[in-house]
Amino acid sequence: MNILLTGTSSGIGQATAQLLLDAGHRVYGTVRKRADAEQLSLHPAFTALIMDVTDRSSIVAVMDTIRASGEPLHAIINNSGVALSGPLETLPESDYRHQFDVNVFGLLAVCQEALPLLHDARAAGLTNVKIVNVSSVSGYITSMFTSMYSASKFAVEAITDGLRRELVPFGIDAISVAPGPVKTPIWDKAKTQTKPYEGTRYEYVLEKLGPYTDAAAASGITPEQVATVILKAVETERPRPDQLVMNKSWLIRLVMLLPKRVQDKMLLKNLDGNKRY
Ligand SMILES: NC(=O)c1ccc[n+]([C@@H]2O[C@H](COP(=O)([O-])OP(=O)(O)OC[C@H]3O[C@@H](n4cnc5c(N)ncnc54)[C@H](OP(=O)(O)O)[C@@H]3O)[C@@H](O)[C@H]2O)c1
Repeated sequence: MNILLTGTSSGIGQATAQLLLDAGHRVYGTVRKRADAEQLSLHPAFTALIMDVTDRSSIVAVMDTIRASGEPLHAIINNSGVALSGPLETLPESDYRHQFDVNVFGLLAVCQEALPLLHDARAAGLTNVKIVNVSSVSGYITSMFTSMYSASKFAVEAITDGLRRELVPFGIDAISVAPGPVKTPIWDKAKTQTKPYEGTRYEYVLEKLGPYTDAAAASGITPEQVATVILKAVETERPRPDQLVMNKSWLIRLVMLLPKRVQDKMLLKNLDGNKRY
């Protein structure tokens, strides 16, 4: 299969690129920096392409390159993402807009530009043509201080369901793969963003959040585990459309059924000793 995969510079994207290649697929992997493109030329079936999902012209250029290859495109995997943290009250507008620009509007833009290629693949008689969106457990349940990240992933879940339903007549599938905590660089990138809250009324909560976040990251699954699920989702006809990838994922589905006040208590337990709650 010929697959477009966004965000292959590190983490889940890089592991997924490797696994897809090992399984014999052709991968068009996108990166933002030319240095990452050079570093990633791991395999003859890997083509690194420069794309920033917030820059429509770079998305169009990628699709033009794929179209020019003359090969059909079987699937796209929207993996690019950023994770913003901080209290909703003080989150800078530019930060939360960027959160949505990358995770939501960028993902939709990639879908819009890639879909003509996926329709062409169907017209050429190919089956198992699909979109895989990398969501998150944060698209199922909202934790405090990562609310806008959650909001973006809830939006990814809605877009995925909408796409799948709108594309039924055309035989194109859309599913989401939603990991729990995964050991990738995204955690370190997010940690640096809590600095602006020093000196605000949230400072003391964020201090508690540091070790909690470290523990969640340390207990996370590996990017390779997520990549294995993505590979299977790509190769299987009609995979489960909402795949939660984490230890005890059943517990999350159970918590979602509980009343919101009970969910609040469970989540707040993570910040135990926080007297102001
Ligand atoms: N790690 C977790 O615990 C976890 C859990 C659930 C879901 N996820 C999701 O998994 C996906 C991959 O994250 P990861 O954990 O593997 O983190 P990561 O290693 O930081 O990878 C994120 C990728 O997204 C790319 N990216 C960021 N901004 C972009 C933009 N404007 N345009 C194009 N690409 C951009 C990054 O490129 P640069 O290197 O150029 O920044 C990088 O390749 C994300 O959607 C994330 O939300 C992660």
